[in-house]
Amino acid sequence: MSILDQIKEVRLEFKSDLQSLSSKNDELDPLRIKYLGRKGLVSNLFNQMSSVTADERPRVGKELNQLKIDVSKQIDRLELSFNNDSNEQSSIDFTLPGDPKPIGSIHPLSNLLNEIKTIFMRIGFSVFQSSEIDTDFYNFEALNIPKHHPARDMQDTFYITDTVLLRTHTSDTQIHFMEKNDPPVRIIVPGRVYRNEDISVRSYCLFHQIEGLYVDRKVTFSDLKGTLDYFAHELFGNNVKTRFRPSYFPFTEPSAEMDVSCIFCKGKGCSICKYAGWLEILGCGMVDPEVFKAVKYDPQKWTGYAFGLGIERIAMLKYGVEDIRLFYSGDVRFLRQFK
Ligand code: DAH
Repeated sequence: MSILDQIKEVRLEFKSDLQSLSSKNDELDPLRIKYLGRKGLVSNLFNQMSSVTADERPRVGKELNQLKIDVSKQIDRLELSFNNDSNEQSSIDFTLPGDPKPIGSIHPLSNLLNEIKTIFMRIGFSVFQSSEIDTDFYNFEALNIPKHHPARDMQDTFYITDTVLLRTHTSDTQIHFMEKNDPPVRIIVPGRVYRNEDISVRSYCLFHQIEGLYVDRKVTFSDLKGTLDYFAHELFGNNVKTRFRPSYFPFTEPSAEMDVSCIFCKGKGCSICKYAGWLEILGCGMVDPEVFKAVKYDPQKWTGYAFGLGIERIAMLKYGVEDIRLFYSGDVRFLRQFK
């Protein structure tokens, strides 16, 4: 093969070597050695110059020099561009502050629910839950609210069939638990309840309650008062006062409602407590013997107390929220305030 043809061959080989390069700087040295090294392909051609005839020599010399220049220029250029790329990587400034991603927060209702659960668990209550879909028997009958009892009007009910409904309160779970467990009983029941009410700033078609049930021998009304006093002080602070007003619930006898002194005006009277100085926070009472009969507990042997409170109502008071619907709107402007 003539030396000119060999020059062409070397050019082609170099071209294909370049095409198979990845972008790694450490591939360039072997390439440089292969072509430009002392025993490289280009030097090898220069060594053959002695056998080239005198009249061909200027042309071949010119071609060969050009090959050497082209190969080394190409390699130098590649080296520069590879180095620039890696310079770019090392030019990241690790001391720059990060780009903060917004993170969520616990919903205020969950927060309050957890807080209340903890308060009762600290004094030995355990958590029990049952289904939000229930029957007339558990939601009403067994709680001493027979058909046509006026108390049914207090809770507008979503019926699924004649006997199946969305529970209107967590009191239904009292019955579920006592049916399956012998006394003594010491449970709280957090859960969702449903009422067929017009939606407004004060009421929504669903909300959350916590029920409490305590059954043992010789439980008295003062046990009830002591427990709920403790609860109110844990939740609202030691300066808050409590009072119990007589009330009526079919499943407790006697029944009461507990008020706390207004946490906004400290009992002096303001627009939130409607100038009464007191805020109603829960219903309670001694378990009615009729309820014990429905679950086959002997009312001669066992006594107990129960209470029920609405989480939304307390959350509205505690956080100063004026529209109950905000809890369900998913509006981040509202939720962000509880971080
Ligand atoms: N279930 C009642 C309601 O939803 C609240 C209640 C009152 C629960 C008195 C009780 C209780 O356990 O003793 O309005």
